[in-house]
Amino acid sequence: MKRALITGITGQDGSYLAEHLLDLGYEVHGLVRRVALEDPARRFTRIEHILDRLTLHPASLESYPSIFHIFSKNKFDECYHLAAQSFVAESFADGFSTMNTNINGTHYVLAALRELSPDCRFYFAGSSEMFGKVHEVPQNENTSFHPRSPYGISKVAGFDLTRNYREAYGMYCASGILFNHESPRRGYEFVTRKITSTVARIKTGLATELYLGNLDAKRDWGHAADYVRAIYLMLQQPEPDDYVVASGETHSVREFCELAFAEVGLNYLDYVKIDPKLQRPSEVELLIGNATKAKSKLGWNPTRTFLDLIKEMVQSDLEAAMQESGRQASYQ
Ligand code: NAP
Ligand code: GDD
Repeated sequence: MKRALITGITGQDGSYLAEHLLDLGYEVHGLVRRVALEDPARRFTRIEHILDRLTLHPASLESYPSIFHIFSKNKFDECYHLAAQSFVAESFADGFSTMNTNINGTHYVLAALRELSPDCRFYFAGSSEMFGKVHEVPQNENTSFHPRSPYGISKVAGFDLTRNYREAYGMYCASGILFNHESPRRGYEFVTRKITSTVARIKTGLATELYLGNLDAKRDWGHAADYVRAIYLMLQQPEPDDYVVASGETHSVREFCELAFAEVGLNYLDYVKIDPKLQRPSEVELLIGNATKAKSKLGWNPTRTFLDLIKEMVQSDLEAAMQESGRQASYQ
């Protein structure tokens, strides 16, 4: 039985990846913050249905000794390093913390693996935010990076560290360059979930308006459950490499709003208001990925469309809002 460690197992991707690896017969371990272990009811909502099949280890990305301790006591075949401060807007508010967690955290995991388990395969969660002010359209593995936020910069550093451990020490280190991926498990601060959860609250009378920033930004949005399959496949190849994972379509935030409100029979223009404070000091205006390499080398393909994603997120949030409001509203 293969044994894997997932850092960030309580997050959106970590929870889907844990399910996927369990389905494949893996013994799945997770690195979690000690505070999460102390408050499981609130912090383990995404993994509560599989908790009895997981082994969790308390540690923090800010603490090398805590990470070293896990690898000194356990041997893993694969390590999926997903944990990060992942909210771009927060990285403008506190760039120092984001850099510390995302760059040093990645370096600590790599350094501990090199010391204690150099044969363990390592995955780094790179991001399309690394492309930032894009140098070509669509973006692929050879497109140069121009990050536009402390978060993006931290991911470029993590990507470079990962490649350097591969080249300098011969370790199996792979990076995914994943474009935005969402699901009903997405954090509420990200724009898709903010929109679908507020659409549901408006429909059920729990809210009356939705404040957003830049409606014209364009993203390449896919489904997280599809994208974790690509992550897994990256660590099953004969040689480590880096892969873009994307849907190949781009849509604006405005278009997402329009379709999400339309799902419940509403017009977004009646509810969406602009709050300039939600605009970023430097924005990534357009992302669209070319996943040809992942498709041809990994045999990966997405299974859900953009509209499937919106429908699933709205439906899920509507059920939650209806429970909250206690009303028996019917979904159109
Ligand atoms: P997420 O839902 O925000 O999950 C982040 C995870 O990291 C959580 O489990 C969180 O734990 C953990 N974490 C944060 N800071 C930590 C720390 N100091 N010590 C230990 N654990 C810490 O993110 P996601 O959407 O699943 O994304 C997973 C990874 O892929 C991230 O690295 C993200 O940057 C990257 N990525 C995401 C996307 C996307 O569109 N979703 C695209 C490209 C790349 P708590 O639950 O305790 O906070
Ligand atoms: N969050 C948020 N809130 N974003 C808004 C809002 C708002 O009220 N209004 C407009 N936006 C715009 C942002 O300016 C951005 O252009 C776009 O919506 C998407 O923002 P997010 O959903 O916060 O995601 P992101 O693209 O910045 O980052 C996500 O994707 C990256 C991959 O490209 C995160 O998951 C990152 O961790 C990931 O690496």
